[in-house]
Amino acid sequence: MNKVTVIGAGNVGATVAECVARKDMVSEVVLIDIKQGLSEGKALDLLEAAPVHLFDTHVKGVTNDYTATANSDICVITSGIPRRPGMSRDDLLGTNASIVRSVTEAFVARSPNAIIVVVSNPLDVMTYVAYTASGLPGYRVLGMAGVLDTARFRAFIAEALNVSVRDIQTLLMGGHGDTMVPLPRYTTIGGIPLTHLMDSDQINQIVERVKTGGGEIVQLMGTSAWYAPGAAAAEMVEAMVKDSGRVLPCAAWLTGQYGLEDLFIGVPVRLGRTGIQEIIEVELNADEQRLLDTSAEHVRANLAALERVLKASNDS
Ligand code: NAI
Ligand code: 2OP
Repeated sequence: MNKVTVIGAGNVGATVAECVARKDMVSEVVLIDIKQGLSEGKALDLLEAAPVHLFDTHVKGVTNDYTATANSDICVITSGIPRRPGMSRDDLLGTNASIVRSVTEAFVARSPNAIIVVVSNPLDVMTYVAYTASGLPGYRVLGMAGVLDTARFRAFIAEALNVSVRDIQTLLMGGHGDTMVPLPRYTTIGGIPLTHLMDSDQINQIVERVKTGGGEIVQLMGTSAWYAPGAAAAEMVEAMVKDSGRVLPCAAWLTGQYGLEDLFIGVPVRLGRTGIQEIIEVELNADEQRLLDTSAEHVRANLAALERVLKASNDS
């Protein structure tokens, strides 16, 4: 795999491009945006950072010119509007659906065999939009949310226990929103279950902070996060480029796993050169399954909202 396209050169897209370039694992990253000069400027800035960070990946920036993206192996879609204070991710649906649909169609026309990683919100529904617009098989379209949300989970545990983030493994499932399902029962620190090191009140506090972690940053900055989201998407790209078999929580197209089908939602998957190579089914207890079902209901409500938006735009 040699070429990665990042659509949207805003906060998240530029960070994805930087993180992918710094891993020095592909020969070219193409950054594309509709704002005249934005991608070109950020790509030039990244190129000038290469001698300091010591990477050879060539970063090319273009304004809405999809010919430059031709024959990409992987595409990361970050185009769209982010949340502002008082907004939920779901409020972005109408605007971002038409952006994600149009950029997917333009991209896939020139890279029909690529893998698409969606970042734009509301994540689970935008991944569905890219899936339907691309015509690609489900295992080649996936959404980034779980890697970010588990990173937040790990960061907060590391801070609370004063341990290294390296030793923390967590699992989190469900949609990317307040109904997400962090799973303390599948969380370990150096192999030791979290439940041995923290009482349930402390765990619940951290779980609630993870669920509202995106909003916490929006409240502080007036827009949403980009360092952790960009790094998270780049980690998924790396797993596929290196065909590493990493097991990461990603929004995947379900066909009956966990009793769910016909929607994208966060589950643990094994990633490799062809995209999602396996959806891993772990045992959930009744409470965990109930929380996952509630989260899936929320995603389905958003899919229904998407249908209404599409119908209204077709009627007008
Ligand atoms: P931003 O506003 O900094 O960047 C978005 C970029 O998309 C802008 O530069 C804009 O010009 C571009 N854009 C808009 N329409 C386009 C089109 N048709 N073609 C190409 N580019 C286009 O926003 P930011 O902070 O980078 O966030 C991007 C998206 O990612 C938002 O929807 C945000 O909610 C989402 N997000 C998702 C996360 C996740 O965990 N899945 C985490 C963080 C952000
Ligand atoms: C986040 O969780 C806004 O989805 C974005 O930071």
